[in-house]
Amino acid sequence: SPYTKCSPNPNNWQLETAVAFDIDGVLIKGKRSLEEGRRALSMLNGNNLHGTRIPFVLLTNGGGVTEADKAADISQRMGVEISPDQVILAHSPMRALAQEYAQKHVLVVGGVQHRCADIARSYGFEDVSTPDDLVAWRPSMWPFMSPPKEESLSRPLGRDYSKHPFDAVLVFHDSFDFGRDLQVVTDVLRSQNATVGGPFVNRQVIPLYMSNSDLIFSNEYPLPRFGQGAYHVCLRAMWHALTKGEAPPLDHTLFGKPYRVQYAYAERLLDRMALEALPIVDVELMRGRRRIYAIGDNPAADIAGANGAGWQSVLVRTGVFDGAPGTNDATNPATKVAEHVEEAVAWIIEA
Ligand code: G3P
Ligand code: MG
Repeated sequence: SPYTKCSPNPNNWQLETAVAFDIDGVLIKGKRSLEEGRRALSMLNGNNLHGTRIPFVLLTNGGGVTEADKAADISQRMGVEISPDQVILAHSPMRALAQEYAQKHVLVVGGVQHRCADIARSYGFEDVSTPDDLVAWRPSMWPFMSPPKEESLSRPLGRDYSKHPFDAVLVFHDSFDFGRDLQVVTDVLRSQNATVGGPFVNRQVIPLYMSNSDLIFSNEYPLPRFGQGAYHVCLRAMWHALTKGEAPPLDHTLFGKPYRVQYAYAERLLDRMALEALPIVDVELMRGRRRIYAIGDNPAADIAGANGAGWQSVLVRTGVFDGAPGTNDATNPATKVAEHVEEAVAWIIEA
């Protein structure tokens, strides 16, 4: 093979091609697994005319679970063995923040909160709290819910949050209670010294990191549903209303598709896969020849992101994009449109 020093290629790997699959709206729609997804993944695992194996990763704005759990779930649903090292969740690249915030106190928001807190701890964040922990500490902080039960907390009760300033807010996944998470996050972001319960100041006192800007996504419901980006819109609107427009707009660092950080992270995983496939591959030579194809359903995330990263974007009609006016944003003539993921992979294998 051209990128190794005459090493055998027993599994017939084709390393100058790689594929990044979006999940929601491409391989699955909520609880429904798409048959064409099963066939598409099998084709990349050698079940194609050339008998070649093509490396692939799952590049999703989903999250709220570990990469291992997502890999196990999609493996089971697609009938193909997928390793955690092939999975990039919206928050996967946030691992890099753990160096800076290892011993710092962070508020982790979204999903089943104590689960996201555990994921953050597995990334190296050692001092993690969640909005449920805060409401359990002061139930009147958000009086529209019964105080969270001890088992849903990310840490034992007892911390006095008026004495434990926060150093950053990390939104790991979709908020399951916009009201509570708008109240708590705006409290933390504008509390003097970032200790809740103290006086408010008219400025953002600590950084905010968001893992996914999807305004909408596709599940088994016939129409797209709100994604984490819907929470962002509400958070920015509430920030403006609460500070009466006198404070600068919320400053936040964004992860997830279409942002470049996600694609750089995916490329590193693909490099590692290539080295595992062919241990003496010349990675630089292979990278120079590799064409990465990204298959997705959301023009604003999957297509814009792939085009921005210099990858070949492939848009399918099984999710957010259904060709209806208004869902056609951010595509460009370089984008290949396919009915579904199996057609997309068939085209890639012959491209
Ligand atoms: O919460 C997941 C949603 O925002 C989109 O997921 O797999 O289509 O990137 P995906
Ligand atoms: Mg999608």
